[in-house]
Amino acid sequence: MKKKAEWPRKLRSQEWFGGTGKNAIMHRSWMKNQGLPADTFDGRPIIGICNTWSELTPCNAHLRDLAERVKRGVYEAGGFPVEFPVFSTGESTLRPTAMMFRNLAAMDVEESIRGNPVDGVVLLGGCDKTTPSLLMGAASVDIPAIVVSGGPMLNGKWRGKDVGSGTAIWQFSEMVKSGEMSLEEFMDAEQGMARSAGSCMTMGTASTMASMAEALGMTLSGNAAIPAVDARRRVISQLTGRRIVEMVKEDLKPSDILTKEAFENAIRVNGAVGGSTNAVLHLLALAGRVGVDLSLDDWDRLGRDVPTIVNLQPSGKYLMEEFYYAGGLPVVIKAVAEMGLLHNDAITVSGDTIWNDVKGVVNYNEDVILPREKALTKSGGIAVLRGNLAPRGAVLKPSAASPHLMQHKGRAVVFESIEDYHARINREDLDIDETCIMVLKYCGPKGYPGMAEVGNMGLPPKVLKKGITDMIRISDARMSGTAYGTVILHTAPEAAEGGPLALVENGDLIEVDIPNRTLHLHVSDEELARRRAAWVSPVKPLTGGYGGLYIKTVMQADAGADLDFLVGARGSVVERDSH
Ligand code: FES
Repeated sequence: MKKKAEWPRKLRSQEWFGGTGKNAIMHRSWMKNQGLPADTFDGRPIIGICNTWSELTPCNAHLRDLAERVKRGVYEAGGFPVEFPVFSTGESTLRPTAMMFRNLAAMDVEESIRGNPVDGVVLLGGCDKTTPSLLMGAASVDIPAIVVSGGPMLNGKWRGKDVGSGTAIWQFSEMVKSGEMSLEEFMDAEQGMARSAGSCMTMGTASTMASMAEALGMTLSGNAAIPAVDARRRVISQLTGRRIVEMVKEDLKPSDILTKEAFENAIRVNGAVGGSTNAVLHLLALAGRVGVDLSLDDWDRLGRDVPTIVNLQPSGKYLMEEFYYAGGLPVVIKAVAEMGLLHNDAITVSGDTIWNDVKGVVNYNEDVILPREKALTKSGGIAVLRGNLAPRGAVLKPSAASPHLMQHKGRAVVFESIEDYHARINREDLDIDETCIMVLKYCGPKGYPGMAEVGNMGLPPKVLKKGITDMIRISDARMSGTAYGTVILHTAPEAAEGGPLALVENGDLIEVDIPNRTLHLHVSDEELARRRAAWVSPVKPLTGGYGGLYIKTVMQADAGADLDFLVGARGSVVERDSH
């Protein structure tokens, strides 16, 4: 365990506010226009509350209320809280994709923390990309930091049944196409899918990333699952406010917590919860920020022997409310530890070990958090496939895939873009059946740009009408964490970089072997070389502004799609004052 720093000592914020120099007087004086007593700047911890609140990110629209609760806790512990806004990446609305802006938001977080007089920071996130952008930015600065999630929405409800956000959209949309549901019914269901504050209440990317933050040790234990509108969400916010003040005194920083062991714990917990494939990208990018050597192979290796024991949509049945009432993520972490798959002595923001954080918890519902022998799938991790179609890897979530498609050879039906897919998928003359493999190109980091969540292409109506609900789909895109199916994603290198995906033609045979982790295009090397020589990218890259910077510097999916110049921690020191 890390030796606690001595206290009291001079804090970072005193570089701005301490002493009697002209600049210190100026810094204090301007802050005092908010009505602050003189002793505010007496050397007590100044705590930033980094808030991704936005009314354009509906999942985070309640975060100002939680910020007030954090402030209470900070005051109680003898600190001084200062709330500030950062770029909020709303998954449901932001174009072209929230993912394209994850790195921009992380830059905003990083520079807002580094450039300001704060000694520690509470990171308020919720919607999918907001959590990794906060973690990545804070990790690059490396002052004490702790995450509070906004929490999931209450269960969606429609006609007496639970409906999961995201997952129900995909299901109902397919049902409308197959004629099982009318458009009027679909629109009626819209009213009940998102009926409270909070993030998607399936085990989608938001809940996955809240779980990852907790498994990494970057939240108080139990944070991930508390519903947004449950009073206990306010309580954990207040407790977090108290704790960050202590962390500043102890000098407990992200680099003490985000070790290789912590990442391994998170990957295993992701398998146990049946988490989103998006977590692969976000953890790879975060590891890059703190200099932890993490690769796609770690995902495959560590996930293979982890059973998925959380029975939540999209892999299973229930929603986040039931997960919380069953005991939430601490029960899962304890179960993973009891399987011998956890680094029990990894340190968390509590200052204690992850095992000590969870060892006393109880599973209150074994139909929601399943015993190992009743797991949804024995190998719940992320499968990483390689072969001549994906030399640097592609990923698949086995718990969301169909067992009968795990080893399959089929004829490729190729869509050259998402627009091409939309134009042709509903046509009766589309030459496709359920044995085919749907291939979608140019939806990767550079191709879309920003890796759109379009990899779970809806099936053609002519197949759906036969009662078929799954086919193999391959792309360089991502998939919403709320989606499901035998969907191979993140193919690297992407088509827009000239990856082999760009060379697939209609009628090519593709062989997928998930148990053996291979993805093979049955086309000779000579023919592929011929196609490559004739290949011209159809993508017109963005040139100006952030889009241009993104296209020039974004790394491929196997490296987490961070911008290459953001890799590595840059620390918290800013040597020059502004005056
Ligand atoms: Fe925000 Fe799902 S759209 S969490």
